[in-house]
Amino acid sequence: MRIAVYPGSFDPVTLGHGDIIERTAKMFDKVIIGVLNNNVKTPLFSVEERVNMLKEVTAHLPNVEVQSFEGLLVEFLRRNDAQVIVRGLRAVTDFEYELQMAQTNRVMAPEIDTIFLTTNLKYSYLSSSIVKEIAFYDGQISQFLAPEVEERVRAKVAERAEGTV
Ligand code: PNS
Repeated sequence: MRIAVYPGSFDPVTLGHGDIIERTAKMFDKVIIGVLNNNVKTPLFSVEERVNMLKEVTAHLPNVEVQSFEGLLVEFLRRNDAQVIVRGLRAVTDFEYELQMAQTNRVMAPEIDTIFLTTNLKYSYLSSSIVKEIAFYDGQISQFLAPEVEERVRAKVAERAEGTV
């Protein structure tokens, strides 16, 4: 069984991520979306919230599952018997960081390969950080996110503005 892991922070999942997930799901028997539970970065959404949003937007894809992980990505792949890491490449600016991660992961786990999918041109400028920034300034975000995710971002931004989170 060919199993791929698509890892990331997904804070929150965008339509650009969704596009990569759909395409990866056609190429592998199973795709596991690995949501990093990272103590260093301070995400807008908790790991549970990020996992739940991903589950909602991938509910129509039977061979996709969503899990959170802590620690090394390659160990997460090993635990799940996965062979391939999938990452999206938007522009050349992504390349240096992605190459460094892929090479490091390869040294740690030579049996695991990283493949890159070029993002759909439509989403080549898109990032979760930019979407959050637009949302905080009350701009329109509906063209970047699935409707259920947009709703959650709006709610979270409103909570922050009220000082309840
Ligand atoms: O969406 P992101 O934040 O660019 O994803 C980064 C991610 C989660 C792929 C990366 O930070 C990661 O793999 N972290 C897990 C820790 C790890 O294995 N680090 C060594 C990789 S070089």
